[in-house]
Amino acid sequence: MLQLFAQKGLSLEESVAINGAHTLGITHCFSIESRLYDESKNDEPNEHEFELYLKLSCPKGSLTSNVSFVLNEPTTLTFDNHYFINAINGRGVLRIDAEIPFHPLTAPYVQRFAADQDAFFKAFSSAFVKLSTYGVLTGSQGMIRRHCNALS
Ligand code: HEM
Repeated sequence: MLQLFAQKGLSLEESVAINGAHTLGITHCFSIESRLYDESKNDEPNEHEFELYLKLSCPKGSLTSNVSFVLNEPTTLTFDNHYFINAINGRGVLRIDAEIPFHPLTAPYVQRFAADQDAFFKAFSSAFVKLSTYGVLTGSQGMIRRHCNALS
């Protein structure tokens, strides 16, 4: 998954850092149902209590999983390095959040960002500038979307 960012010129360090954007916001239950309830897809189980919390918040077979949600992390309104601290403690919400602390290539960066918020901010800024300026379409080549997930 992180290869997508490498194609846009991000280093591995920057690719890990940009995922730190998940320090903000929420995840709808439908985005984590397969992780929570399909054992064959749950390669990176969460810390036990956190898993229980996710399951209580997002019950199996719920009809409201497209509106119910969990916070991406407890300090969800603050841009900080708690995403990485939680991730190394088995509290990653999305699959990508649960994987990067344990993959041998990405783990060293997750550990560094968990220990050093300034290092995270530095790598995040440079990644964000690269992503924001990569392949920008100008004039009639592109469009400004009214809805970010639809061409309109
Ligand atoms: C491997 C890369 C990534 C994956 C697989 C991924 C996936 C997701 C998913 C599934 C959600 C939950 C959506 C929902 O249930 O409503 C989410 C939320 C979010 N993502 Fe990512 N994401 C990735 C990278 C990024 C990057 C690069 C950024 C920003 C630079 C970002 C920013 C966010 C934010 C801010 C939210 C919370 C949205 C909200 O509160 O409504 N993500 N991501």
